[in-house]
Amino acid sequence: MKIFVPIDAAARAVGSDEVAVELGAALKRRGVDATIVRNGTRGMIWLEPLVEVEKDGVRYGFGPVDEADVDALAGLIAEGKVDGHALSLGPVEELPWMKGQQRLTFARVGVIDPVSVADYEAHGGLAGLRRAIEIGPEAIVNEVMESGLRGRGGAGFPTAIKWKTVAGAPGPQKYIVCNADEGDSGSFADRMLMEGDPLCLIEGMAIAGVATGATQGYCYIRSEYPDAIRAMNDAIADARRYGMLGQSVLGSDYAYDMEVRVGAGAYVCGEETSLLNSLEGKRGIVRAKPPIPALEGFMGRPTVVNNVLSLGAVPWIIENGGAAYGALGIGRSKGTIPIQIAGNVKYGGLFEAAFGMSLGHIVNEIGGGTATGRPVKAVQVGGPLGAYIPVENFDVAFGYEELATKEGLLGHAGISVFDDTADMLKLSRFAMEFCAVESCGKCTPCRIGSIRGVETIDRIAQGEEEMIPVLTDLCNTMKWGSLCALGGFAPFPVMSALTHFPDDFRGRSAPRK
Ligand code: NAI
Ligand code: SF4
Repeated sequence: MKIFVPIDAAARAVGSDEVAVELGAALKRRGVDATIVRNGTRGMIWLEPLVEVEKDGVRYGFGPVDEADVDALAGLIAEGKVDGHALSLGPVEELPWMKGQQRLTFARVGVIDPVSVADYEAHGGLAGLRRAIEIGPEAIVNEVMESGLRGRGGAGFPTAIKWKTVAGAPGPQKYIVCNADEGDSGSFADRMLMEGDPLCLIEGMAIAGVATGATQGYCYIRSEYPDAIRAMNDAIADARRYGMLGQSVLGSDYAYDMEVRVGAGAYVCGEETSLLNSLEGKRGIVRAKPPIPALEGFMGRPTVVNNVLSLGAVPWIIENGGAAYGALGIGRSKGTIPIQIAGNVKYGGLFEAAFGMSLGHIVNEIGGGTATGRPVKAVQVGGPLGAYIPVENFDVAFGYEELATKEGLLGHAGISVFDDTADMLKLSRFAMEFCAVESCGKCTPCRIGSIRGVETIDRIAQGEEEMIPVLTDLCNTMKWGSLCALGGFAPFPVMSALTHFPDDFRGRSAPRK
């Protein structure tokens, strides 16, 4: 008998390790022959620790399981039952959260043993890489082109064009660099994939290597993700043993190997040129573009820099064909997007679906509204630099261009929900303060502007309403004058708060003396 207890950091944070140990011991005491598999999370974070018991090929859920629930649960399992417990959820795949999704990238997350190539392959893994080897570099790029896949880090640049540039660039050595420096508030999809199905990312990187002629890869993971680092390292070791990585990838003429590199905690190292500097052992400071990394990247060589989710989408695309992926979504936003729902929300977690759902549906129907039960005031999409979108604009469809029509940003598709008690002035101040703390210091609008921004907002908070036009002016300077997205996007939350919630900036306490 197999029993699944997640090893994902979100599940561990609420006690899944203790549940796994206690459950193993309780079953042993009852003489039940069971294997406890530490899987990834299904993404229903409010149900963690979610224990799944497999019976006749169906997985029955119990959650959220506390240590105090373990004994009764073990008793039930010993009797061969899978329901009749207060925490019984029934078949996990039948839960509305699971049934409502189109899990392509996250199909195996929460299902398999994350660091076993054998389990990965038994659940359809490696089919993409095998086909990639069969069809060769040009056809791989064509499939990715047909899929319409765009950069999931936020910029939305077509992945195939980036790969084509690297493939066509001269150079004795090329690289694949995976940007796993997931620093956005409310974002956790990269972490979830690396912890729940790291081999999917490794396969995507290997396919990118075959497509572009890059034989070496690096996965740059933020130091705040120790579980993801461990899972990736274990999976890479198993992939090497299996022949998925190395001089002859799956017995082919293609060579590709990779390793994990760990960041040191700077948000700006999520910006690709800063990341490359850090990877080279230098200070994580932004480089001016051009040259683009596709031509002069890691160590000055042609380099693909892609986000975890862009690379994680590739195995499915190559296995099933670009047209199948491109048939999903809306407008220029093709395929699926793993939406991360967080903040003050009833049902927080990861929901992978085709682009095109309305923001209101995501927040109110899927997320169930606020956890506090109060009305939603605004949501921030795309991390700390994303705009605040008010309820009036909840009809906007979830897509790159669609969100841009509301001055919004898809970013990494993380959504933070706020109820009507949120003070938008304070949240604006946070955006500027965040920028001031995380600025790499290279350019003036960001380095100095963010500090002036905090000061200006503080003055408005003291009742100096005449500083509002100054703040607007400062935001425009930062927006148009900053070298990278950190300084360039920090004004978005501030401006959106000013536009949609002007009352939060007016009529504050008496002016400063
Ligand atoms: P960008 O628009 O300058 O570039 C996008 C990507 O396309 C880069 O990888 C660039 O090297 C590549 N590229 C551009 N022209 C190319 C060509 N001709 N051939 C090959 N590759 C080419 O955007 P950037 O500065 O990389 O990122 C800005 C975006 O990052 C923002 O739109 C924002 O949404 C997002 N962002 C994401 C965050 C996160 O934590 N994931 C945080 C902050 C911003
Ligand atoms: Fe550095 Fe900020 Fe300028 Fe980006 S905008 S290069 S983070 S100072």
